[in-house]
Amino acid sequence: MNFEGKTVIVTGSGRGIGRVIAEKFAALKAKVVISDLDQEQVERVATEIGGETVGIKANVTDSSDIESLFEQTRERFGQVDIVVNNAGITRDTLMIRMDEKDWDMVLDINLKGSFLVTKTAAKLMMKQRYGRIVNISSIVGINGNAGQANYSASKAGIIGLTKSAAKELAARGITVNAVAPGFIATDMTDVLPEQAKSAFLERTLIKRPGTPEDVASAVLFLASDEASYITGQVLAVDGGLTIA
Ligand code: NAI
Repeated sequence: MNFEGKTVIVTGSGRGIGRVIAEKFAALKAKVVISDLDQEQVERVATEIGGETVGIKANVTDSSDIESLFEQTRERFGQVDIVVNNAGITRDTLMIRMDEKDWDMVLDINLKGSFLVTKTAAKLMMKQRYGRIVNISSIVGINGNAGQANYSASKAGIIGLTKSAAKELAARGITVNAVAPGFIATDMTDVLPEQAKSAFLERTLIKRPGTPEDVASAVLFLASDEASYITGQVLAVDGGLTIA
């Protein structure tokens, strides 16, 4: 795969899976926008990655931030070919103890954020008659998970968003797909109790936690021209967890 001449925005790429996705795109010659909540962090990460990489702060729940993210990207690189909706958070607790504010916050960032970014990307990509949108869902959006009613609902919503957007945009040369990671070793999962981590691992056929690189490889494939006949799909990157 080669992304020379392509411009990519990765949301939530200040660390974790998003950062590794951005690094892989940069290594394959893409122009990359690192986007996250903190300006200093995105600039530092962009410098560390090198190549044609810039950092632009944007909160995915703020539509004026998103407009400005796309505007600045166009000013800098002229176009936006690929967007990865990766920004996401968890606020885990059993449903009967879950506050409304934790429900709203997770749905706002994970689902509404993906909608706002996808909508803004779509307007631009429709004019270009080319685009690749890859959304980061989760296997818990397919199977559900105790303690993650808000997060699972947001990730299931992303699957609905992906399929609907795929139907609306295919005629304009835009594909929209989702990746559904299983248990991936990042800061997000590091805070889980040991018991929860080993329960995930026990059910994973390939007996190791996934890595951000595992997820990034699938994202890059779906964003590439190799995947031009694939749209509206959900690709699980889960070591076989969902079929176990
Ligand atoms: P992480 O917590 O390391 O990184 C998430 C990034 O999103 C952070 O840099 C954070 O600052 C950013 N972010 C949070 N709210 C934001 C907002 N409002 N606007 C812009 N950026 C925001 O998490 P990780 O593990 O790298 O996860 C990345 C994605 O992969 C998330 O969507 C997550 O739900 C998903 N995922 C992760 C799995 C795992 O096992 N780690 C499994 C399945 C899905």
